[in-house]
Amino acid sequence: MSGIVSLPRIMGHRGAAASAPENTLAGIRQAAAYGAVWVEFDVKLTADGIPVLMHDDSLKRTTGKDALASELSLADFRALDAGSWFGPEFAGETVPSLEETLGLLRELDMAANIEIKPSPGEEADTVTKTIEVLERVWPATSPAPLMSSFSRRSLEALQKQAPKLPRGYLVEELPDDWSSIAKDLGCVTIHHYAKAVTARQVTETKAAGYGLAVYTVNDPEQARELLEWGIDCLITDAPDVIAQAIS
Ligand code: G3P
Ligand code: MG
Repeated sequence: MSGIVSLPRIMGHRGAAASAPENTLAGIRQAAAYGAVWVEFDVKLTADGIPVLMHDDSLKRTTGKDALASELSLADFRALDAGSWFGPEFAGETVPSLEETLGLLRELDMAANIEIKPSPGEEADTVTKTIEVLERVWPATSPAPLMSSFSRRSLEALQKQAPKLPRGYLVEELPDDWSSIAKDLGCVTIHHYAKAVTARQVTETKAAGYGLAVYTVNDPEQARELLEWGIDCLITDAPDVIAQAIS
């Protein structure tokens, strides 16, 4: 696995979150059906330290279970329905483990942006457990996943524990000292919030040599404008809509 990354034009966000429940295998299959080759998804740990796909600390919104992800074991997760909240046709969709997800990605020949989304206090451990899974199941010959996080501690842990995996500096607002932070963390890409990014920041980050991804871009007009500004990658809930908009 190498440290270089070539960002795609379009990346499915949490799978294809506009058309299928986020962070599920159904969502990843949907992204593939729409022609996306890359997907972004969020990883956090179960109580017994297994990396699973989940965005929120609380399981309430996407599974109906009034508990924290960090409180339930993988066995408990197996009983959750992560699809019904989105639509009855997705009833019974499970919360996938990272390992299952990587298996599907290999089957579909897809690439991954793994966002480390640690529960509080699990910033380093989420990285350790994620790397364990990657080293065990992700072929060395396949393109290395792009690892990103809002958590500086998680990015530091990635840098220390898996220095060869490419890292993305994920921000809502680019801080004034972004350049030294990204450099210290050895990041190769910057992942910026679409509603906050400015044309000047695009020029600056690109001129500094970073790959630039922007999330979450579901509006065709915004997608075209951001590409004109020079961004490399649109992270979108609707890879079908955005692909058509920029074709
Ligand atoms: O990785 C891009 C994007 O997913 C970051 O925000 O909250 O959707 O995980 P969020
Ligand atoms: Mg995310």
